Amino acid sequence: MAKKDINWGELGFGYVKTDYRFVANFKDGKWDDGQLITDENIVINECAGVLQYAQTCFEGLKAYTTEDGKIVCFRPDLNAQRMADSCERLKMPVFPVEKFVEAVEKVVAANADFVPPYGSGATLYLRPYMFGSNAVIGVKPATEYQFRIFATPVGPYFKGGVKPLTLRISDLDRAAPMGTGHIKAGLNYAMSLYNIVDAHDNGFDENMYVDSATRTYIEETGGANIIFITKDGKVVTPKSNTILPSITRRSLMIVAKDYLGLEVEERPVRVDELDSFAECGLCGTAAVISPVGKVVDHGKEIAFPAGMTEMGPVTKKLYDTLTGIQMGRLPAPEGWIKTIG
Ligand code: PLP
Ligand code: COI
Repeated sequence: MAKKDINWGELGFGYVKTDYRFVANFKDGKWDDGQLITDENIVINECAGVLQYAQTCFEGLKAYTTEDGKIVCFRPDLNAQRMADSCERLKMPVFPVEKFVEAVEKVVAANADFVPPYGSGATLYLRPYMFGSNAVIGVKPATEYQFRIFATPVGPYFKGGVKPLTLRISDLDRAAPMGTGHIKAGLNYAMSLYNIVDAHDNGFDENMYVDSATRTYIEETGGANIIFITKDGKVVTPKSNTILPSITRRSLMIVAKDYLGLEVEERPVRVDELDSFAECGLCGTAAVISPVGKVVDHGKEIAFPAGMTEMGPVTKKLYDTLTGIQMGRLPAPEGWIKTIG
C-alpha cells in the first residue's frame, strides 16, 4: 500500500473524497449488517425525514499515525455512546456501540492510504452520521434510516494553526434550556450558520455562546468546548447541561489531573469572570486545543495575559500531553487508544 499523493502539510479542514465509506440501513425495525461502498453520493426520497424535518445527527473523531507507525483512533466508544444519546433524543434508532466501533475500524483500515503520516500535522477525520431516509410529511420520526461513516484527511480547523483566536460574546443562542444543546444534532449547527458568517464578517474567529436563560454564564462555541486556566494554574471548564459533552474536554480534565498534577474544576463560569483568567482555549476533535487570545463583549475587550502570539504555557502543556497520548509518544490510560488492524 502506498500513501496517497497529498500535500499533507497544506491541508485545511475540508472534504477530500476517500476510497471507501460505510453504510448500514435500518428498515422494518432492524439494522442490516452494513458494508463498505465506493459511491460517495446518496439518493433518497424528496420527502425524506432528514430533508423536511432535519432528523439527523453526527459524530466526529480522528485516526492518527503514531510515532511507531501504527494507525489508531482515540476513544471511539465514547463517540458511539454520544451518538446513541443523540439518537434517543431525536427518536432515531441507536446504532449499537460495538458495531459503531467496528465500522470505524473498517473505514479507517480501508482508507489507510489516506491516514496522514506521523509528524505531518494532519489526521484522518471520521464523520459518522445518521438520517431519516424515508418519506414523512406529517411531523413524525422516519421509519427508515441510514448510518454512514466517511473519512477525509484534514489539517487545522482554524486557519493559522495555533495563532490565538479572537471570539465575541454572542447575542444569538445555539441552545435552549431544555433543548438539544447537549446532543450532536445537525439542527444545532444549521442555526449557528448565520451567526458564524456574521462573526467572520465582523472580524471574529468564533462566537462564544452564553446561557440563553440568564445570559450570565459561558457555554461553548459553535464547534468546541472551552477551557480556562486561572492565574494560579487551575483548569476550569464550564458546567452546563446545554453544551455538548466534549470527549476532548473530558479527556483533558483527566490529563490535567493525572498527567500534569493540576487542579481541575467543572463549574458554572460567569461572563464577568472572564477577565480573571490567565489563559483560554477551545477544545474539540476538530479544534484539538486552539488558544483564545481575546474575547470581545459588546465592545469591551478581554485580553488574556497569555497574549495574541502563542499558546499560553499551561494550555501548551495540555496540548502536548493530549497529542502525545494520541500520537503514541506517551502512554495512554486504559482503553483510550484503539489500534486499527
Ligand atoms: N461542542 C460542539 C458544539 C462541537 O461541535 C464539538 C465537536 O465535536 C465539541 C464541542 C467538541 O467535542 P469533541 O471533543 O467530542 O469533539
Ligand atoms: C468535531 O470537532 O468533530 C466537530 O464536529 C466540530 C465541527 C464544528 C467540525
